[in-house]
Amino acid sequence: MSSSKPSNTASGIAAPLLVWYDRHARALPWRISPQEGAHGVVADPYRIWLSEIMLQQTTVQAVKPYFAAFVSRWPTVEDLASADTEDVMKAWAGLGYYSRARNLKRCADVVAMEHGGRFPDTEEGLLNLPGIGPYTAAAIAAIAFDQPAAVVDGNIERVFTRIFEIATPLPSAKTEIRGLVAKATPASRPGDFAQALMDLGATLCTPKRPACALCPLTEPCQARRSGRQEQFPVKLPKKEKPVRLGAAFVAERSDGAVLLVKRPDKGLLGGMSGIPTTNWTVRADGETGTKAAPFAADWRSKGVISHVFTHFELRLEVFHAVVTNIPDHDGWWSDGDSLPGEALPTVMKKALSAAFPALFRKGKT
Ligand code: ADE
Repeated sequence: MSSSKPSNTASGIAAPLLVWYDRHARALPWRISPQEGAHGVVADPYRIWLSEIMLQQTTVQAVKPYFAAFVSRWPTVEDLASADTEDVMKAWAGLGYYSRARNLKRCADVVAMEHGGRFPDTEEGLLNLPGIGPYTAAAIAAIAFDQPAAVVDGNIERVFTRIFEIATPLPSAKTEIRGLVAKATPASRPGDFAQALMDLGATLCTPKRPACALCPLTEPCQARRSGRQEQFPVKLPKKEKPVRLGAAFVAERSDGAVLLVKRPDKGLLGGMSGIPTTNWTVRADGETGTKAAPFAADWRSKGVISHVFTHFELRLEVFHAVVTNIPDHDGWWSDGDSLPGEALPTVMKKALSAAFPALFRKGKT
């Protein structure tokens, strides 16, 4: 092509991308490979749904062991619906956003009880389920049911802002990107198309130093032509996250057991387990020291841990005490055998590790 601007590139994306995917698709535990797909093997909507909810939180690598543990313990949506919510929360611990684990269980209940154990096969039907938003509905409709839904995640946004040199910063550009993805989505193999874009974004069209020499979409990619691939997506400067402060208290019984409490169902880390903490406050002169301890003891500081949540950074000073007189306090005592199986969010594991450095080292959890 001789013109500097390619013609309507949306139509030129699917064919070369699917050829590339047929050779380079990542083997993922929930995925039907293009070769299996060609032989009529179809995806299990339960596994696609579960993987998509998990992948909203974190990377493919981090999700794999959680996914394996869930499907071996609860192989079908009915099994998950019959599970104890507390067990599901424990199995989810470490993935973050615990309201999602609760919605996961609710969704399994609804599918099992109101849909005869079958996930709805349209975006609209899926959107009505607990915990399923527009992205997840589109992803499940495309990947599990081969519906031509426009699937747009962060990787796909990056790929499209480069192909079309979209100058509007994210997140404002989302609607425009969605329209272009919808146009580019083929009627045949839309699920493979979505997964191919995800793989391309994860393996070649990376945020830094994309591997354009290996990319099947160099022909339609405008940013590649102008050599500006690393300048997309355009993003507004990030606001610094506010810092909140607090204290966390590791009370150790003489036999080594630690006092745990269940956090209130509402709010951040709702319903998860943890050591007692103060409120988390933006005020440096707030309740951040031993004065706010749940009971009197010989509290000793073990340092400050930091954990970044979506909207703020939390800094907790961790205090430890061996308690001889067992206080009258809500909660339960968990020993070295039971601690690794508790529903402890990462921030709580960090706080416990400040007092017991070896506790959650690899191989112990
Ligand atoms: N990220 C989110 N969903 C994914 C999927 N189905 N395959 C690969 N990466 C993903």
